[in-house]
Amino acid sequence: MLPKNIIKRKDMLNCMLCKDAPCKVCPKFDPSMALRSIWFNNEDVASLRLPEGTPCMGCDAPCEKSCLRSEGLPIKALMTKLYEEVRPMAETDIPSDEDRLKCDLCGIPLENPFLLSSSVVASTYDMCARAFEAGWAGACFKTICNLDIHEASPRFSAIKGDNGTLQGFKNIEQLSDHSLAENMGIFRKLKQNYPSKFILASIMGQNEKEWGDLARICEENGADAIELNFSCPNMQEDGLGSDIGQVPELVERFTRAAKSGTKLPVLAKLTPNVAAMSPSAEAAIRGGADGIAAINTIKSIVDISPFTFVSAPAVKGKSAVGGYSGNAVKPIALRFISELGLHPDMKGKHISGMGGIETWRDGLEFILMGSGSLQVTTAVMQYGYRIIDDLKSGLNYYLAQMGIKSVKDIVGAGLDSVSDTTDVLERDTILFPKFDNDKCIGCGRCIISCNDGGHQAIRFENRIPKLDGSKCVGCHLCLLVCPQDAISPSRKRISR
Ligand SMILES: Cc1cc2nc3c(=O)[nH]c(=O)nc-3n(C[C@H](O)[C@H](O)[C@H](O)COP(=O)(O)O)c2cc1C
Repeated sequence: MLPKNIIKRKDMLNCMLCKDAPCKVCPKFDPSMALRSIWFNNEDVASLRLPEGTPCMGCDAPCEKSCLRSEGLPIKALMTKLYEEVRPMAETDIPSDEDRLKCDLCGIPLENPFLLSSSVVASTYDMCARAFEAGWAGACFKTICNLDIHEASPRFSAIKGDNGTLQGFKNIEQLSDHSLAENMGIFRKLKQNYPSKFILASIMGQNEKEWGDLARICEENGADAIELNFSCPNMQEDGLGSDIGQVPELVERFTRAAKSGTKLPVLAKLTPNVAAMSPSAEAAIRGGADGIAAINTIKSIVDISPFTFVSAPAVKGKSAVGGYSGNAVKPIALRFISELGLHPDMKGKHISGMGGIETWRDGLEFILMGSGSLQVTTAVMQYGYRIIDDLKSGLNYYLAQMGIKSVKDIVGAGLDSVSDTTDVLERDTILFPKFDNDKCIGCGRCIISCNDGGHQAIRFENRIPKLDGSKCVGCHLCLLVCPQDAISPSRKRISR
């Protein structure tokens, strides 16, 4: 069963996931698609999409010769591994339809759970149309308001991983800078040309009347549901965005105001810049919300220059706290989603989860914690709308493999094991680590970490790590730091 992870992202760190990738020169298949699927944790599907017969046999690898990276990428070896090692392990065929992915948002059908979240990625007609064509089920449009929006430049910064990918992303962007009339024109055209796609209208009012008016106008122009932006951390004016989401009384009042303007389902989009989301979620439900969307971005400071002492993005020598998103925030997002999923007031209410979703497995985690739909921004900003292919095909394949008929059947299925506190955990047994000497190359990183961050339970014998069971407390730090994935949890448990 999953995950097999025979090929990992780190096996292809040199790959840049190019647009119109030159490695497509392959006469038999498109290796760039397979590489992308490996990147996005979808290697089973990638292996099954390869043509029959050993596809790289006897080939002199024009794909590798065309690679834009001078260091190159072992594409032929990766494709061969995909065919020879991953494919035989695939447990089922690629499903012939996507029926398992069909779900709904407050009773309104969704072709699949994946929507663009409110941001620049869903801010024009052309962008949404391209995303819909690519397979996204819908879009939460960039927040609509009556404010005069002037954005700063630059407005983004990021913490990057070793191979240059954006792991955490900071923005100081505000709301849509189109007029209300322009945005309503976009809604009408989108609804006319893509009637089966879901339009979630994100709005922000400045007073009760405006919340109601904006909700009504969006409904009149084709929106399927309304999302209330109580969570933008970047507003120039006080008393808007996350300033509202942090005050339950205001959340209740403005949710009620928005509900008074529309018959559509209303989601309150809440801020993670709080100790707990429950008070604001309860207030939104009291105000009539049909569900909660979360998380918006987390207030952050990144990348302080050692020369100017100014953090990024620096705008003429000044910077500001801004919203952090992307894969780095996923654990925090999941914590808030589980808080909502476990809350009794949320029974029968919709949770639209987001915060760091890049792969179908990320999406699955949000579903298991109670999300009925999923929203994505930062991964699209980094990799493009094309990620929907691996999101959908990966999740669909997983469901088929597990014999799950509908994605709706597993919403919240992981909540039973979650506790908000650690007092429920059993503390009487130790689960030892197990060392795979075939994989271990004797780097000793497990020993360094165990010595200085653990319990001095591992030593070298001829560069082979040996465990001292009398000292090991089973913390599993060694598993986490091993660069070779040569350590796993053993079955050996002892009772203290
Ligand atoms: C550049 C940028 C602009 C955003 N603009 C909005 C917005 O207008 N309204 C809103 O509700 N959220 C906005 N967000 C927040 C996202 O919708 C989303 O909640 C957050 O980024 C977490 O998801 P992600 O990790 O997939 O990006 C924005 C995020 C980014 C990165």
